[in-house]
Amino acid sequence: MKQRKILVTSALPYANGDIHLGHVMEAIQADIWVRLQKMRGHQCIYVCADDAHGTAIMLGAESQGITAEELIDRVNREHRRDYEGFLVGFDNFHTTHSAENRQLCESIYLALEGNGHIARRKVRQLFDPEKQLFLADRYITGTCPHCGAEGQYGDNCEVCGSTYSPAELLEPKSVLSGATPVEKESEHFFFTVSAFGEMLREWIRSGAVCESVANKLDEWLEEGIKDWDISRDAPYFGFEIPGHPGKYFYVWLDAPIGYMASFLKLCQREGLDFDSWWRPGGDHELYHFIGKDIINFHAFFWPAMLASAGYRTPDAIFVHGFVTVDGTKMSKSRGTFINAATYLEHLDPEYLRYYLATKLGPGIEDLDLNLDDFVQRVNSDLVGKLVNIASRCAGFIGKNFDGMLAPALDNEALFEQTCRAAAEIAEFLEQREYGKAMRLVMALADQANQYLNERKPWEIAKADRQSAELQRVCSTGINVFRVLAGYLKPVLPALAQRAERFLNIEPLRWGDLDTPLLGHRIERFQPLMRRVEPAAVAAMLEQSRRAWSEPGETAGATAAEAATEAIAEQIGIETFAKVDLRVARVIEAELVEGADKLLRLRLDLGVDRQGGALERSVFAGIRSAYAPERLRDRLVVVVANLKPRKMKFGVSEGMILAAGPGGEDIWLLQADSGAKPGMRIA
Ligand code: 2FM
Ligand code: ZN
Repeated sequence: MKQRKILVTSALPYANGDIHLGHVMEAIQADIWVRLQKMRGHQCIYVCADDAHGTAIMLGAESQGITAEELIDRVNREHRRDYEGFLVGFDNFHTTHSAENRQLCESIYLALEGNGHIARRKVRQLFDPEKQLFLADRYITGTCPHCGAEGQYGDNCEVCGSTYSPAELLEPKSVLSGATPVEKESEHFFFTVSAFGEMLREWIRSGAVCESVANKLDEWLEEGIKDWDISRDAPYFGFEIPGHPGKYFYVWLDAPIGYMASFLKLCQREGLDFDSWWRPGGDHELYHFIGKDIINFHAFFWPAMLASAGYRTPDAIFVHGFVTVDGTKMSKSRGTFINAATYLEHLDPEYLRYYLATKLGPGIEDLDLNLDDFVQRVNSDLVGKLVNIASRCAGFIGKNFDGMLAPALDNEALFEQTCRAAAEIAEFLEQREYGKAMRLVMALADQANQYLNERKPWEIAKADRQSAELQRVCSTGINVFRVLAGYLKPVLPALAQRAERFLNIEPLRWGDLDTPLLGHRIERFQPLMRRVEPAAVAAMLEQSRRAWSEPGETAGATAAEAATEAIAEQIGIETFAKVDLRVARVIEAELVEGADKLLRLRLDLGVDRQGGALERSVFAGIRSAYAPERLRDRLVVVVANLKPRKMKFGVSEGMILAAGPGGEDIWLLQADSGAKPGMRIA
């Protein structure tokens, strides 16, 4: 087989946050793929780095009283530790704040500029006169110009779903200082992606992305892609644009170049030829594993930049969905926003590697970590099936045959059948159909256990503890176990290593799996994997929940969201009394097509004066925190005498009350279960 030369990356985590299960899932997906390639004898290199630039990192360091460099150095150590904890085998883990990245960013930029792909235009933007910096949308709040909802961020309203320019917000405030922003003009640099429409269309249809992503991208291309603003004004933590003091590369320009920079660093360390991997025309392969939220950066700007600068474009972008836990978005308040380090304090990384593998496919659907299923699946498959094969046989070989395997197998057909699956399993793994591969491996493990159930080595041992038959039966079991451990090695590298030690063999390679171990001495059997204890899962959740609710942590709020709002101007009781607050029961909640943030609720407010059922339809911007099915029958608090408001999606006949900074951290105010729909709240 021809040796392939493959470069793989996973998305660069931001250098101001912890590695969490979302990052871990992506890295494990890539790592399994890379380990498969390596095991099959290909040259496969896996690089990553921290995404270390941008305003958020600059402000984060400032609020911690340290320099940005200190912050990103500390976080880099933590990130390396966490990935390593999950057995992610990067060949290099770098940072975008590196000499290699600066050099590549500058040269790529100069190439784009030289090719006439950089345009300059004046941009008017909101500016914080106190902090002296331009404000990205998420650093501005104000009142929605359409529905009057207060405390809306940036350019869209969570309540009515309308979009606007941040300058249209009424009474805008800088989240950073509380100051009223002013409009200010500055010159920005744009990459003219629009010039690459044809090239991108072709690239997308070359099989670079899966069908569903290709369709989405085509739609976006139809709508037209705007030129991309790649500059930011000082103060900014990043690289200055050569020849333009005070102008910096936008973090999203230098982040993907960080893939190249990490690889360049590896080339310098190991004497690889950078250009043969990155210039067009060679037979080297390049793949990026990313989440579905950052497709446009990788499928439009990145290939276009590479093409303009004379580099090769990626062969494919492998896009995955998000991780949910027990059916809902990871939530800090429920403890299901789980950091890598927290998981590792309680559980074996390979439990998660295996569980994710059983659920991963090549598509962009979200992947649910169902914690009960997780415990059950790992215990049943890995402990109950796989390891069980070895442990049922090893004792007899160790005690009765001094560790020596038989010179022949009792059931060659079983061994051969197990080996014949190698090509199919490799193909599933290659296609990122990990779930299918795992099911096939477990079906083979079932067969081996079935064989042992039928052959009953313990019965044979009763009759003659040193019979050749017993040795051959147990050697068959051990040999099948060896092949299965080999199949699972990309997913479970540590378990495979323990198996190699037990079997007293060189590291397992894909091509060698079908050669049985005969007349070979194995080591004493040590437990290869322990059961998952549900108590350990509970302890992890509890620790996670507590971590997010400790003083100093703002229950998951970002710096922007955490800004405390001043108490509003006083009102008299007579004004307050005009607000008619009622208990209402949610009859039904549903998603609103076209509005990412909204749910439509049908509310039961008891009965009207004529004794008829009083119902209201209300739109609420709580979709990020509540799945509709969780709302049915809840007793909520509604402003019953709010004038009906006509919104883009229909009329809202009231407003339900909720607290929290937004996103997943929104909590509905609820009445106790004794309250009845329609009761007035006083
Ligand atoms: O979305 C993110 O977390 C980014 N830090 C990913 C960057 S990937 C690449 F382009 F560098
Ligand atoms: Zn609004």
